[in-house]
Amino acid sequence: MEQEKQEVYKEFKEYIIPPSWKDRVWDIEDFKKFHEETVKDKESVEKWWVKWAEQLPWFRKWSRVLDDSNPPFYRWFVGGEINLAYLCTDWQIEKGRKNKLAIIWEGEPVNEAGEPKEVRKFTYYDLYRISNRIASALRDRLGVRKGEIVTLYLPMIPELPFYMLALQRIGAKHSIVYSGFSAVALADRVEAAGSRIIVTADGLYRRGRIIRLKEVVDEAIKILEERGHRVEKVIVVKRTDRTDVPFNEARDIWHTDFLAGIPENVRVDAIPLPSDDFSYILYTSGTTGAPKGSQESIGGYAVGLYATMNMIFDVKDDDIYWCTADIGWVTGHSYIVYGPLMTGLTSVMYEGAPDYPGPDRWWSIIERYGVTIFYTTPTAIRMLMKFPDELVKKHDLSTVRIAHSVGEPINPEAFRWLYSNVCRNDAVCSSTWWMTETGHILTGHLPGLGKIYPLKPGTNGYTLPGVKADVIDEDGNSCPPGVRGYFVIKTPWPGMLMTLYKDPQRYVDIYWKRWEGCFWTGDYAVKDQDGYFWILGRADDVIKVAGHRIGTAEVESAMIMHPAVAESACVGKPDEVKGEIPMIFTVLKHGYNASPELEQELKMHLRKTIGPLVASDAIIVFINAVPKTRSGKIMRRLLRAVVAGKPLGDITTLEDETAVKEVAEAYNMIKEAVEKRR
Ligand code: WTA
Repeated sequence: MEQEKQEVYKEFKEYIIPPSWKDRVWDIEDFKKFHEETVKDKESVEKWWVKWAEQLPWFRKWSRVLDDSNPPFYRWFVGGEINLAYLCTDWQIEKGRKNKLAIIWEGEPVNEAGEPKEVRKFTYYDLYRISNRIASALRDRLGVRKGEIVTLYLPMIPELPFYMLALQRIGAKHSIVYSGFSAVALADRVEAAGSRIIVTADGLYRRGRIIRLKEVVDEAIKILEERGHRVEKVIVVKRTDRTDVPFNEARDIWHTDFLAGIPENVRVDAIPLPSDDFSYILYTSGTTGAPKGSQESIGGYAVGLYATMNMIFDVKDDDIYWCTADIGWVTGHSYIVYGPLMTGLTSVMYEGAPDYPGPDRWWSIIERYGVTIFYTTPTAIRMLMKFPDELVKKHDLSTVRIAHSVGEPINPEAFRWLYSNVCRNDAVCSSTWWMTETGHILTGHLPGLGKIYPLKPGTNGYTLPGVKADVIDEDGNSCPPGVRGYFVIKTPWPGMLMTLYKDPQRYVDIYWKRWEGCFWTGDYAVKDQDGYFWILGRADDVIKVAGHRIGTAEVESAMIMHPAVAESACVGKPDEVKGEIPMIFTVLKHGYNASPELEQELKMHLRKTIGPLVASDAIIVFINAVPKTRSGKIMRRLLRAVVAGKPLGDITTLEDETAVKEVAEAYNMIKEAVEKRR
């Protein structure tokens, strides 16, 4: 910890000001004053957000900005009526963007010259027409009504945003499941959301291979049938040229057949929806096995997105915007679909891997479309910076004026690489912190306000105006600068989750119980002497693999479903590129012996139960017993310390109730197992 702190400290004073901003820099004290004004009291917070809300087209104006009468169930812009699909299409057309490109989609496959084989472009009018047709088919052919939750299990193809917008038009909701999740994970989420309809694709392209998706859906449906949950309809988008797609004629329908006969010019009015109705649920990992359905609002969410698109991304009408995330995660929901579309941007959407067919694919995309705003992840940067800089320099990236990262802490080295190579030492670059539950970005640099505060490599900067956060200790007291503590949010913000779907008690318990009146993010952080936040990583049992959020409990419960496994404990092992990778300590049942074959089998099992996103990076370490405290809790901190290569000295005090000798024994046992594994 000492060493960790020192490393962060060293960075505290490295100020960077992009030359083109040199005349527009806040004095830090002035920025702090400005910020404080916006969070002084409830009125100032409301006033700040109203300024943004007033810029949106409401069908009916709100009667109350923030209803805090039933905390922590805060409600924003109560009484107002709005519709996300309307904001993203109808409103853009009204504003004169009918023929403006909304989405430039690039498929992964390339021709012999290395150029993309498929590029599909859609104007705002195209988007409007297509989503109207889908909305009409969903409503009239399948009887989808306001409030119904449809599960979307789709890869990065334009049909995903089309279906999202179609559902929003008619007041239905989506639950999107990332296409890297397995049949079991999909089945759990379909069941929890109560969906009777799934939209999927035959497959997707990834690093030149076809990954089959339809089979995963079929398997999920089989699991669901055993549980008594019936899926009535599966709409299948044809993405690949495979000819062996399993099809159940009574249940499955191709997307094109689903729309056949629906007139091109059909119109389905975007219906006015209460601001505090919900727009979607998104299942996310927590500290217990069961995924949590983060339930997002409509009005507050729209305001938060609109504001952050403007403040953080400083959007202008001629920008070409590219967020490299996957729509299956929250970053894609907010910053590939709803945010950029409601601000009328032209966005790039890319289907495949960053390094296919070569490690300069991304740079070629930036060059091809003249990307001006780039939003990406630290893992991708760390992966791509390993290749020679010439691969970047070969491409013209001079259009980039803003490049932010998200999803995990960015190490100063990766930041500097991004800043010097992609930003050519002159673009605003920051690490925007937020989470599924916050709906939109809550920290980061704010070029959209016309002035920026100095950048620092690795920091998350300040929270947005109107948002108050702090780093506190166990007792809830503010930590002094440089001291690590828990990162909490102290004011409600517009895009905050409304609750956990069908589980309000869990919502209260997880986020609001630990400290009175504070939203507990689950992250560790430090604040520096300038008041900048540095988020250091999760303080709970969630790990971030390549920025993907995975609950260790999910991994553990998947492991013990295998007949050979008696017990298992999963922790994140620091990884140079991916941030963390899952290391799974596993105790076998009597009669089973550790072997490379069994390890392979267990990884296959993980692939089936959770999905490739966990299985491909997981390291399985066989041990004789999972070290536990006297009260029976897994000694997670000990496990984490061993895998991070930290000495025992740091951890003896951590596993509170247990004798030092026992901890030392456990430490040595684990250390030996890990070393044997290497
Ligand atoms: C982590 C992703 C450091 C953090 C949008 C958080 C970050 C979790 C950053 C949420 C950042 C996200 N710097 N850590 N800029 N952004 N995180 O729900 O641990 O997939 O709690 O949302 O990602 O992950 P989620």
